[in-house]
Amino acid sequence: MIPQRTATSSTLTLHVNDTAHTVTVDHRATVLDVLREQLHLTGSKKGCDHGQCGACTVLLEGRRANSCLLLAVAYDGAHLTTVEGLGDEERLHPLQEAFHERDAFQCGYCTPGQIVSGVGMLCEAAEGHPSHATSPEALQWATGAPAELNRDEIRERMSGNICRCGAYPHIVEAIEDVTDHALRHRGTAPHRTDAGADAGTDADSGTDARTDAVPAR
Ligand code: FES
Ligand code: FES
Repeated sequence: MIPQRTATSSTLTLHVNDTAHTVTVDHRATVLDVLREQLHLTGSKKGCDHGQCGACTVLLEGRRANSCLLLAVAYDGAHLTTVEGLGDEERLHPLQEAFHERDAFQCGYCTPGQIVSGVGMLCEAAEGHPSHATSPEALQWATGAPAELNRDEIRERMSGNICRCGAYPHIVEAIEDVTDHALRHRGTAPHRTDAGADAGTDADSGTDARTDAVPAR
């Protein structure tokens, strides 16, 4: 669509959880604000509003992104997955089930961001992306094979998501529970296109966040 613009607002389309939403946004509005206040998708939380806590994590073209740092006007046509797109009350995503079974939360405020970040992280590891905790030996012989996700790797890869209740031990256990499943579904991150490489994200293509999400239900 041709964006309709004024000095302070633009009309654009965001594809959120496989639904296209055409909205008029203030040029100062972040993706997080549009999700919560205009689309009424309140799963993504505003914690710090400064890119420090991860409570607002969404998948942008299949890669993790802090939605509080993304100016919505720059993302016309983008594909986003929020926690609402991973599962529902009838069919939880495996990582949602694992969080529930492991009691991986207390107040729950950080939990949507933790789960979305965990899904994105599992995709990254399944595609062989190293982390700061990846051993020099593993880096030297890196072949693009799935990265081994031991506890140090999980902690490092999830370090952008803060839990003020300190539920970290159970969060790590919940992610461990689905790791093997994720590695079997290597390279199937939802909604990745080459357009996602900016804004601190990577890219990919896909059509259905629920069916392509890693790990699949
Ligand atoms: S609210 Fe976005 S990182 Fe904290
Ligand atoms: S469960 Fe309360 S902040 Fe994480």
